[in-house]
Amino acid sequence: SNPSILILPGDGIGPEVMAEVRKIIDWFGAKRDLAFDVSEDLVGGAAYDKHGVPLADETMAKAQEVDAVLLGAVGGPKYDVLDFSVKPERGLLRLRKEMDLFANLRPAQCFDALADFSSLKKDVVAGLDIMIVRELTSGVYFGEPRGIFNEGNERVGINTQRYTESEIERVARAAFELAMRRNKKLCSMEKANVMESGILWREVVTRVGQDYPEVELSHMYADNGAMQLVRAPKQFDVIVTDNLFGDILSDCAAMLTGSLGMLPSASLGAPMENGRPKAMYEPVHGSAPDIAGQGKANPIACILSFAMALRYSFDQGDEATRLETAIEKVLADGVRTADLMGPEGGVPVSTSEMGDKIVAALDAS
Ligand code: NAI
Ligand code: MG
Repeated sequence: SNPSILILPGDGIGPEVMAEVRKIIDWFGAKRDLAFDVSEDLVGGAAYDKHGVPLADETMAKAQEVDAVLLGAVGGPKYDVLDFSVKPERGLLRLRKEMDLFANLRPAQCFDALADFSSLKKDVVAGLDIMIVRELTSGVYFGEPRGIFNEGNERVGINTQRYTESEIERVARAAFELAMRRNKKLCSMEKANVMESGILWREVVTRVGQDYPEVELSHMYADNGAMQLVRAPKQFDVIVTDNLFGDILSDCAAMLTGSLGMLPSASLGAPMENGRPKAMYEPVHGSAPDIAGQGKANPIACILSFAMALRYSFDQGDEATRLETAIEKVLADGVRTADLMGPEGGVPVSTSEMGDKIVAALDAS
């Protein structure tokens, strides 16, 4: 049977960008003999409107069964008044938690045609292609004790940075596997100079590295890492780091490449029975209520997320490259959604025209 994909378009521009991904999926089925069993369901505000919860149990069960989940975006002003327990983002959190997606992959890739969009000088970022692997399910955002407590006559806010060896080991292994598929270069970032969890992190990553003798492993303090990412990002290939540092470093790396509308992500968990990892793919951006319903959204972040699915869930690296190359070609031709329109101008297109242009470039590939 065909590999299965569950599509959760969500709210705001989510359904708009996902409609373009559908065109791409259909193209691979028709032209590359790469058919998927695609089902679609609700998440976020859309699910709340129908079921009173941001993710129905049946949807959660489906997500556990499929080979990959593709998610658009959730949230919007209409739902800001809701109780925290049923807020749209809780749908997303439930998926991540119950699928145990511990490795968050955030590529920072600079398409040559968009190098002027970077916050940095063109020659610092042109051709940039790095991958940050952020631990996503543990660390200081989850560690106990946490809370605001009374201490003497004032209060104290407490969070705990906590990592077990096995939590470090599994994300390290994911990063080494990735490095093996790329350029065999991995940099691990922590603060072993001032944090116990950092000392353990470095020790465990080094130990896992013994299973990957071909990978050139280096270690860097995360603060220096932030500086190096801005100074000379091309020195890196794969970076692995914890939840907190990864949150900050991946946002920092994102701005190396320009528009939020260009950034994909993947969240991976443990291998399933068929050997594929549990996986969810989604653009980094949110539901963009300010432009929703106007045909202005850039669908490329979501389409690149599907390219990641081709590569990491379906072992179709060549087809992922084909898709990325088609996107590069369209951008090189000057085709631009509004968010990509720079001072040098370009060919303005809507969300669906951008999808059509990418399909046409695939046809020509
Ligand atoms: P946002 O990412 O939705 O939008 C930030 C800015 O970037 C806006 O000006 C928007 O128009 C623009 N933008 C975002 N994606 C774009 C695209 N594909 N093409 C062109 N322009 C794009 O973040 P914001 O405004 O902070 O949040 C809006 C809603 O989205 C909130 O309800 C928030 O909770 C939710 N959100 C959801 C996320 C998710 O589903 N993973 C992530 C971030 C926010
Ligand atoms: Mg963040």
